[in-house]
Amino acid sequence: MSNFSQESVLSVHHWTDTLFSFTTTRNPSFRFRNGEFTMIGLKLDQKPLLRAYSVASANYEDRLEFFSIKVPDGPLTSHLQHLKQGDEIIVSRKATGTLVIDNLEDGRNLYLVGTGTGLAPFLSVIKDPETYERFERVILLHGCRRVAELAYGEMITEKLPKDEFIGELVRNQLIYYPTVTRDPFRNRGRITDLMTSGKLFSDNDLAPLSPEHDRAMICGSPALVHDTRALLLDKGFLEGNHGQPGQFVVEKAFAER
Ligand code: A2P
Repeated sequence: MSNFSQESVLSVHHWTDTLFSFTTTRNPSFRFRNGEFTMIGLKLDQKPLLRAYSVASANYEDRLEFFSIKVPDGPLTSHLQHLKQGDEIIVSRKATGTLVIDNLEDGRNLYLVGTGTGLAPFLSVIKDPETYERFERVILLHGCRRVAELAYGEMITEKLPKDEFIGELVRNQLIYYPTVTRDPFRNRGRITDLMTSGKLFSDNDLAPLSPEHDRAMICGSPALVHDTRALLLDKGFLEGNHGQPGQFVVEKAFAER
């Protein structure tokens, strides 16, 4: 059996000139853990061109969702951004990644730190009932330059709390904190600065970060990952990975250059 499936595009949504999402059919044999990524792509000149993408849908949903940037000269995204309903796309049947709750020790609060399309794996994590069994509070932080880039805000604040399966857990345990750096908005500043100043915690009635009670997952640009990791290490947090659960885990967002 091939390691790849041909899937069909079901819907496409353009958030901005540089960001879009799409959903596809899902081969029932494709299994993944919430927070993992897989390889997806297109056949170009008879050759498959594949890139890593976090799965933004939950593992119990029957369609797959992906959240992507559009790079004008990007080998894949320059084509991917023109996807339409009914188009074919290649999806690997293998998923992997470190941003899974099994890689974290038990704790009280789970911080999900995502910038830009680094939000994608957390969309799947916040739909997982196990996330709410393991952690009392789940704090989803999404940092972007512009307000228009805060994709999925309505889904998180309007749709998910009303969801039949996960709604009650979301209403009781999820805190969503979007923040932007280059537009006026109710929350402003880099996530790292909001952590250092303590504003993030006072705004949400949370205690300052501690390795005893808090766990974190980080996904964004290499600079964001570097700085947030340094901040947590400085506070005494231990990094986890496969086979060695820790107090935080990281993955850089898969941006095409
Ligand atoms: P800023 O506008 O101050 O660079 P990008 O699109 O470059 O990935 O950035 C997405 C968001 O992440 C922006 O709000 C950006 O803030 C912020 N950001 C970029 N680098 C870092 C970093 N090293 N630490 C914290 N936040 C960062």
